[in-house]
Amino acid sequence: MVESHVVADGRHDSHIVGQSKRREPLPPAIGRDETIGGRVLSVCCAASITKGEETSLAPDAVSNGAAMFRTRCAGCHGPDAHGYLGPDLTGFWAAGGTDDRMFDIVRKGIPGTEMIAADPARVLDRDIWQVMAYIRTLNAVPVTVPTGDATNGAQVFRTNCSSCHMVNARGGQLGPDLSRIGSARPRAGLQGKLRGTSTFIRPGYEPVTLVTKSGERIRGVRKNEDEFSIQIMDMRERLQGYLKDTLTEFRVEKQSVMPVYGPDRLNDRDLNDLLQYLAGLRGGESASR
Ligand code: HEC
Ligand code: HEC
Repeated sequence: MVESHVVADGRHDSHIVGQSKRREPLPPAIGRDETIGGRVLSVCCAASITKGEETSLAPDAVSNGAAMFRTRCAGCHGPDAHGYLGPDLTGFWAAGGTDDRMFDIVRKGIPGTEMIAADPARVLDRDIWQVMAYIRTLNAVPVTVPTGDATNGAQVFRTNCSSCHMVNARGGQLGPDLSRIGSARPRAGLQGKLRGTSTFIRPGYEPVTLVTKSGERIRGVRKNEDEFSIQIMDMRERLQGYLKDTLTEFRVEKQSVMPVYGPDRLNDRDLNDLLQYLAGLRGGESASR
């Protein structure tokens, strides 16, 4: 693992990696992980990326791609593509993703998510192939196959989470719909959210506390706000609107209305099972799997 990182890091820095090195074939990463979870992977090498594009994938494709990754992708996918706000991309091919599919995602974006389309006027096709060539080098890191019992995870979810979260149109609405959370967030991010080490709060669900002139204290999540009014969903899932001048207090909190699930509430094993379940929530396509 460390060794692979060195390879990847070396490639990060185009000043260190010399011309001759860059011309070396990409690490034969995937060969090693040919079967993961019994699935045969689409074994592929950098060469296939150049299909139909032989002239445009220059020897410095990987270092160009790395530079572009840093400016256009790393903010959401993390500096090493292991995921941050967006998912881990290093396992994309191992999970059955293809070059064409990644190209399409980057070009067209994923509607309704933070993953926006790449403007053709600013990002050429070649740029996308280069960034993919770079992401592939990160793919050299051996994938540790996550384990966990998703069936038990689903049970843990029903008991602890579904009062606030919908999956496949069943559950509560105080928190966001999690039907495709497995494609949207990296596993480490989900774990941080549950254990309370992540400070991320999903926009549209900011926790608020209001106190009315009659002394009523109301907690909920913020849905809308303008200069004069605020609309919230209270803890009983009722949408409520208030004129600000009828409130004596109005605070946006730092602490989510979602509880923190420390080891006392959720032991490591149940956490792992729950993560396995959540990681498998990938929207319509996987709903029936
Ligand atoms: C503003 C944040 C943001 C930026 C910038 C961004 N992404 Fe994403 N990306 C996301 C999010 C969030 C998702 C998950 C969307 C979903 O499915 O809900 C995603 C999904 C993806 C996926 C699909 C992953 C999968 O397993 O299905 C790929 C591939 C991807 N991004 C590549 C890129 C590349 C390459 C760049 C840079 C050119 C980039 N993204 C820039 C946020 C971002
Ligand atoms: C009392 C209601 C409540 C319960 C119970 C609850 N959540 Fe949440 N959850 C929320 C709210 C509200 C948000 C959005 C605000 C935020 O990000 O903290 C949220 C956010 C999340 C997110 C982040 C979504 C994103 O876009 O990244 C995940 C993941 C999540 N919850 C999973 C769970 C799981 C798993 C459980 C059960 C162990 C659970 N929640 C229990 C209310 C709840």
